[in-house]
Amino acid sequence: MTHRILFVCLGNICRSPAAEGVFRARAPHHSTDSAGTSDWHIGDPPYRPMQTAARSRGIDLSDLRARQFVAEDFNRFDLIIGMDAKNIARIEELRPLGNDTPVRLLTDFAPHAGADHVPDPYYTRDFDGALDLIEAAVEGLDAHLRG
Ligand code: 4NP
Repeated sequence: MTHRILFVCLGNICRSPAAEGVFRARAPHHSTDSAGTSDWHIGDPPYRPMQTAARSRGIDLSDLRARQFVAEDFNRFDLIIGMDAKNIARIEELRPLGNDTPVRLLTDFAPHAGADHVPDPYYTRDFDGALDLIEAAVEGLDAHLRG
């Protein structure tokens, strides 16, 4: 079964494009996108250090471009996945009345990783640590979608 999955972070240049790239490489039969809650980087490619870190794992992010999360995304996707609690709060502010699309934390799908959010590598500079967590959670997400 094909699912429509949207990954969301703040800038849409580090964590959510990385999650999108890892997920589409692993599960290309799904429809995948990513977005940012801010408008800060609209049209930008993923942040260069994240592209480099992903590339070294065989994940190409170069075709991705940042866009802002919009209320219509609640109708366009089956599952919306945020990277931290603040992302989730901003997403929920835009939920249309009566819409029941699930919004989850990416780390919900990696319970054994012991993290309650994906720390922002734009600030921590730990791009590999973010990718480790994203890869573990995407594996769990893939298993979840397979039922
Ligand atoms: P992201 O990281 O939310 O994982 O894309 C960030 C990228 C840029 C900024 C903040 C977070 N910024 O302040 O420009």
